[in-house]
Amino acid sequence: MTISEGSLETLSERIDSFVLAVELEACAPAFDRGLRAEVLAGLARPQKVLPPKLFYDAIGAALFERICELDEYYVTRAELSILRAHADEIAEAVGPRAALIEYGSGAGVKVRLLLDAMSAKGTPFGTYVPIDISREQLVRVASDLAMEYPLVPVLPVCADYTAPLTIPDLPEGVRRVAFFPGSTIGNFHPDEAAAFLRRVRHAVGPDGAMIVGVDRRKDARVLEAAYDDRDGVTAAFNLNALARLNRELDSDFDLGAFRHRAVWNDGASRVEMHLVSTTAQRAHVFGVTVALAPGETIWTESSYKYDEFRFHRLVRQGGFEVHQLWTDEGSQFWVALLRAARSRSDDHRVRR
Ligand code: TRP
Repeated sequence: MTISEGSLETLSERIDSFVLAVELEACAPAFDRGLRAEVLAGLARPQKVLPPKLFYDAIGAALFERICELDEYYVTRAELSILRAHADEIAEAVGPRAALIEYGSGAGVKVRLLLDAMSAKGTPFGTYVPIDISREQLVRVASDLAMEYPLVPVLPVCADYTAPLTIPDLPEGVRRVAFFPGSTIGNFHPDEAAAFLRRVRHAVGPDGAMIVGVDRRKDARVLEAAYDDRDGVTAAFNLNALARLNRELDSDFDLGAFRHRAVWNDGASRVEMHLVSTTAQRAHVFGVTVALAPGETIWTESSYKYDEFRFHRLVRQGGFEVHQLWTDEGSQFWVALLRAARSRSDDHRVRR
């Protein structure tokens, strides 16, 4: 879908245009065959694993919002404080008329800080492209934003950004800036994170940039508490992965026979989230029997933490370079501005 300046005259046209954009993208149902196969393959491995995507149904999303408010979970507060303190500089660095492409737009809280700063700078033709797997939330948030920022065209894309996806056509000469807050980059294993960055690099092109939230390495006790809070909200969030298999995937896990465990693995620089089986048990997942020994775990998620050395290495592998790092008062978190590094294919393009 192509838009050009001035082609979206009225609010209702604009709303029609984004509803159309959402409808045009085939949004796969949550439990398609691919995800079923992924679940079964993961549960068949010597160290059982489940895909983190399972966390984010409506219940998981609500639990995650509660996690963000926990005393122990500093991540969201630290990132918001950086975005609040430096939104102006970030907007300046993004430049006028840029298209902001958000990978996993969620509730749209963070992007408002950038859109406010960009509007204050008078960048009326900036475009916002939210990408999210949760269609309902995407449509709601996109329509709210279109009304709150009548000068910013909103072009939502309903898709799983962990797979290759198509960005809607944007007007010629518009700079593309990816936005990936939340330290979600840390939920990829490093080689997956590099592959993801390379896909983003391809999507934003040679003049592109990326604004990414990164959680920093810190004291193990702080990290373990952040992922295993007193009130058990994170435990409930983790268990929701199994609860969801029971609800939606014809499975019969005994939820009472699992415990949440978060451990810091210093060598790998990650917090690992596991569900520990407290007994010998068998569960059935679409007819396939899954046996667990007492103490055996299902590894559900990792959250990698970066220092400058590790982060620069990742960014380089991803085809970007670090242009600027902003941190919070407690030096817990970074918001990084990355710029596309030159690649051979760009040179080729320039020579032609
Ligand atoms: N991106 C978040 C993080 O790594 C996701 C998250 C927070 C999470 N708490 C969790 C994932 C608990 C699994 C379990 O910080």
